[in-house]
Amino acid sequence: MKHFTCVRDIPNLPAALALAKEVKKTPFAWDALGKNKTMLLVFFNSSLRTRLSTQRAAMNLGMNTIVLDIQQGAWKLETERGVVMDGDKPEHILEAIPVMACYADIIGVRSFARFESRTYDYNETILQQFIQLSGKPVVSMEAATRHPLQSFADVITIEEYKKTARPKVVLSWAPHPNALPQAVPNSFAEWCNAMNYNFVMTHPEGYELDAQFVGNAHVEYNQAKAFEGADFIYAKNWSAYAGDNYGKILSRDKAWTVDTAKMQLTNNAYFMHCLPVRRNMIVSDEVIESPQSLVIPEAANRVVSAQTVLKMILESC
Ligand code: CP
Repeated sequence: MKHFTCVRDIPNLPAALALAKEVKKTPFAWDALGKNKTMLLVFFNSSLRTRLSTQRAAMNLGMNTIVLDIQQGAWKLETERGVVMDGDKPEHILEAIPVMACYADIIGVRSFARFESRTYDYNETILQQFIQLSGKPVVSMEAATRHPLQSFADVITIEEYKKTARPKVVLSWAPHPNALPQAVPNSFAEWCNAMNYNFVMTHPEGYELDAQFVGNAHVEYNQAKAFEGADFIYAKNWSAYAGDNYGKILSRDKAWTVDTAKMQLTNNAYFMHCLPVRRNMIVSDEVIESPQSLVIPEAANRVVSAQTVLKMILESC
């Protein structure tokens, strides 16, 4: 595996899940694999979990890590070619990426959707520039359309907790004060489809995701109906994808907040969220603090997903 940007980059998903199990059991078994190798983590956007878990994963493999926050301490980057650079951005990404590549063996990139243009975002312009201009393996640490390290950790968690071979997994939209990207729900849907779960998505009308991510999911607009018999509830907010509404908030309806009454409709489902989460917008205090909440094991598995991916990349370098 050269780059990791989506589930399709993993050559064999069942084998990767088996490897993740080994990595979790014996995290230091490959601590010589990354000796004298450096991972550079480039953040265009904020992070807690991805920043810490990816560094921890690289360190478990014996790698050195460097973290660059583009918004704090680095030169502001121009990303459009052809611009007369007489504004506040002194460096162009077309030079910055090859320079960063001089200092790294693997590059992790976090670059969210900007919501200026759906085409720009859905072409993954920034991530693709890193792949094309760095000549180094690139790992998405959440890009405009996907968050594969998170989804891999989510699937590892579901596999650990599931009680049936093919659990019912429900991705539920929930309200949020800000317009959020579709990366987490897109990616979660893509991985649930790859796992062939009984996968249901529920959201208000107007929040349909790009059909390439919905795949075989059943879309149910009635949240209560979607929750019936669910084994896992994965809550997440996202902004609209379709047409002129791209990146817009169409609803802040708190009737969609996941609370105890809704969880009682399920098959004693586990509650999942990628974090950070807005309590009492996305989920009630009671549900996130309940024994069925998996938000902390899910976050812990971010080290496992990142280490599994980095191990596979290091072995094919
Ligand atoms: N879930 C996740 O990616 O968290 P951070 O944004 O804090 O990295």
